[in-house]
Amino acid sequence: MRIDLTGRTALVTGSTQGIGLAIAVGLARAGARVGINGRSADRVDAAIAAVRERVPQAEAVPVVADVTVEVEAEHAISELGRVDVLVNNLGVFGAEDPLEITDDEWRRYFEVNVLAAVRLTRLVLPAMTDQGWGRILNVASDSAIVIPAEMIHYGVSKTALLGVSRGFAKAAAGTGVTVNSVIAGPTHTGGVEDFVYQLVDRDLPWEEAQREFMRRHRPQSLIQRLIEPEEIANMVVYLSSPLASATTGGAVRVDGGYVDSILP
Ligand SMILES: NC(=O)c1ccc[n+]([C@@H]2O[C@H](COP(=O)([O-])OP(=O)(O)OC[C@H]3O[C@@H](n4cnc5c(N)ncnc54)[C@H](OP(=O)(O)O)[C@@H]3O)[C@@H](O)[C@H]2O)c1
Repeated sequence: MRIDLTGRTALVTGSTQGIGLAIAVGLARAGARVGINGRSADRVDAAIAAVRERVPQAEAVPVVADVTVEVEAEHAISELGRVDVLVNNLGVFGAEDPLEITDDEWRRYFEVNVLAAVRLTRLVLPAMTDQGWGRILNVASDSAIVIPAEMIHYGVSKTALLGVSRGFAKAAAGTGVTVNSVIAGPTHTGGVEDFVYQLVDRDLPWEEAQREFMRRHRPQSLIQRLIEPEEIANMVVYLSSPLASATTGGAVRVDGGYVDSILP
């Protein structure tokens, strides 16, 4: 299979680090012009340098915007001129006591994890349907299905995102635009490495620490290791491509088998 996104413009929200950065690299490698998004120019510039280090010919465009703010989201889209592939990767997570978390915190999770994606989708969908081609990917989580007691607010926001994807796929029916979710499982990002060392012996080398963490704290994972961000990116790049034209309205798992389900 040859994935070629030459001539397509992609926007990846929250792409200065972690999974978003890996997705931006993957899309750039496939030939897309990629908007790199974060809230500060310094971090966006550093991410663009990181993309170019891995893909020297990359066409990476800075999109400095807090996409949870309506006017900034509008500005981000108009700055790019066109968006053929929208990857709503931005998401925040954190543990909170379910009996202590405030209504404001619940609202913040929905503003960032759900509403920002809905708003950006509304902004790009009309042009995508007019041109008869487009791809919208929403990065969800295993927590959407296996709701953690300490992250009900996060899990439920990701469950909502699955519904948002299905709904917008219906709104785009028959247009050549596809809308899907990618359900990411526990992934090896900077923050997660710190988290692992909070739970296992700090003196263990990374590979052993990871194995110990998975065995004790994530026994449901069938791969028994953290997922690398590039593995999530591979699926997003495939779903962004013309090759995935018959996949829409779905939730595709890259979770290392974490969710105990046969489908999908
Ligand atoms: N890591 C995991 O194990 C895991 C597992 C399942 C699902 N996921 C999902 O995967 C996605 C990415 O996770 P991650 O761990 O890679 O994220 P991360 O490392 O926490 O990175 C978050 C990114 O979002 C940006 N950001 C934060 N608020 C923003 C805003 N208001 N506007 C624009 N950019 C903003 C940050 O950039 P600046 O700080 O530069 O603004 C950064 O680039 C999320 O949706 C997450 O829920 C992650």
